[in-house]
Amino acid sequence: MELFEGAVKVLKNRFVSGITWEIVLQAPYIAQKAQPGQFVMLSVHTSDVKKYDPLNRRPFAVADSCENEGWISVYYDVVGRGTRLLTHLKEGEFIKILGPLGEGIFPIREDKKALVVAGGIGASGVSLLVKKLLEKNIPTVVLYGARNKEYLSMFQWYEKARQKGAKVYYYTDDGSFGIKGFPVQDLDKYIDDPQRWVIYACGPKPLLRFLKNYSYQRKVETYLSLDRRMACGWGVCLGCVVKTQKGFERVCKEGPVFEAQRLVDF
Ligand SMILES: Cc1cc2nc3c(=O)[nH]c(=O)nc-3n(C[C@H](O)[C@H](O)[C@H](O)COP(=O)(O)OP(=O)(O)OC[C@H]3O[C@@H](n4cnc5c(N)ncnc54)[C@H](O)[C@@H]3O)c2cc1C
Ligand code: FES
Repeated sequence: MELFEGAVKVLKNRFVSGITWEIVLQAPYIAQKAQPGQFVMLSVHTSDVKKYDPLNRRPFAVADSCENEGWISVYYDVVGRGTRLLTHLKEGEFIKILGPLGEGIFPIREDKKALVVAGGIGASGVSLLVKKLLEKNIPTVVLYGARNKEYLSMFQWYEKARQKGAKVYYYTDDGSFGIKGFPVQDLDKYIDDPQRWVIYACGPKPLLRFLKNYSYQRKVETYLSLDRRMACGWGVCLGCVVKTQKGFERVCKEGPVFEAQRLVDF
């Protein structure tokens, strides 16, 4: 697939809740092409810092898009220098982008029911998938967990998905909203017949590891979106490899989505 590389206009950059912001970008090509699971690399230096500092672009999932209006949205947690710089961008300014990236996307299985597990900011890694599942009228259950109410930063987005037919259940570690505990604690309640379900997930490694084991034990088809520190984002630096049944594969190129049982030593 052709990639877009260039500067795009910031339509919105707003604080959402917890440590999460949402940035909306005018990026028609990416809005048209982005598939569930794909991501973009954003150049996080803004006009008030040296042009190439920080040097490396940062990877972010395409959380939502509108093909007709030509925008994409990214939800980002402010965890370090790059994401802090991103918060300085104002509406009308420009940011350099590369994407859509990642050949390993979430496959839509029209013959099965979908169980989507989202942990923390991983909710933005599966939201485009949820949108496509609902467009295809596929029965969709979403289990969305975070440490507390403020960290359920895509709550409003998932409430809209709920209105469109998804069954959405919220979990918080501290019980400040929804069900107290982790989104994977009740899987057996939903997965009655493993052959009829497919699990999709994005979130912290312990959650993905749990799901990998679960999929092995219960023989449920499962796809996990992985997170690795990335330097290039398009397969050149080999800095993002994971061990799989095929050897080492690049999360940015062959991923970020992998079938769970393909992962080795995960
Ligand atoms: C395919 C992919 C999609 C992603 N999508 C999103 C998204 O939609 N929203 C979002 O908020 N984040 C996402 N991330 C993670 C995001 O890229 C990092 O949080 C970001 O690069 C941190 O940049 P920084 O300069 O602020 O942090 P740095 O100053 O570089 O690091 C700050 C802290 O964050 C940790 N960190 C840095 N990069 C990562 C990483 N990739 N994963 C986990 N911890 C990291 C560092 O170890 C350090 O502790 C994604 C990562 C990948 C690989
Ligand atoms: S980030 Fe460079 S190969 Fe994946």
